[in-house]
Amino acid sequence: MGDQRVILISANWKMHLNNVEALSLVQQFAAHLSASPIPPGREVSIHPPFTSLATVKAAIETYRLPVVLGAQTCHFADSGAYTGEVSAGMLASLNVRYVIAGHSELRAQCGETDEVVRDKVSAIYRHAMRPILCVGETTAERNSGVAERKVRRQVASALGDRPAELVAAAVIAYEPLWAIGAGVTATPDDAAQMCTAIRNELGNLAGVDEAAMVRIQYGGSVTAESSGALLGAENVDGFLVGGASLDAEQFSTIVTG
Ligand code: 13P
Repeated sequence: MGDQRVILISANWKMHLNNVEALSLVQQFAAHLSASPIPPGREVSIHPPFTSLATVKAAIETYRLPVVLGAQTCHFADSGAYTGEVSAGMLASLNVRYVIAGHSELRAQCGETDEVVRDKVSAIYRHAMRPILCVGETTAERNSGVAERKVRRQVASALGDRPAELVAAAVIAYEPLWAIGAGVTATPDDAAQMCTAIRNELGNLAGVDEAAMVRIQYGGSVTAESSGALLGAENVDGFLVGGASLDAEQFSTIVTG
């Protein structure tokens, strides 16, 4: 567990909930938090679809929720002829604090390469937000013993050759592909091993002190049942939660438990 690091627990809603449903979920979450507040030393971000960002922003303000707004991706360019895309600057103007970059679903389904991910991370920093950089291996990569090499390469590709303070400001989400939406979580030992490798790689890139400041999340079928043991794992500083973040009670338990 991170010694001085503030735990970051992030809700990735993916392509779920319309605008009305989004508001309802935030209201339910607010009711849970008023009964059981977020403990000190924990930060929470909510990453709705673009269509609900403004609604969730307004709800956070109305209910004075101690959570910050996040987004699920952005374009690497600041503006231009990119039909359907959303720029980092547009997100920053909505008070978005964290933007997910390189989620495995976008890498796999939209051909998002390491180069594109790096450019997106640059755009996020240009607009004074923080990336949540997703990295992780497939089952085949794990079985053939190349998981750590792949994850280190993803980290180095996105964050290498950047000022040390920007590396320190990053959040990494270790999301093994075999655990996402699968109902199978990594064991705390598995998570600790890879998160420690990630921190070592960050140390190579930016120095040990900066690496120690980076929050490293685990993601992949996190539930209220699995979250406690995972948060006790070495170098695990929070979660990127998919399915369980769509259930106000379960997400509240993960956040406050
Ligand atoms: P699940 O928690 O649904 O497995 O999703 C994990 C994830 O991909 C979060 O970004």
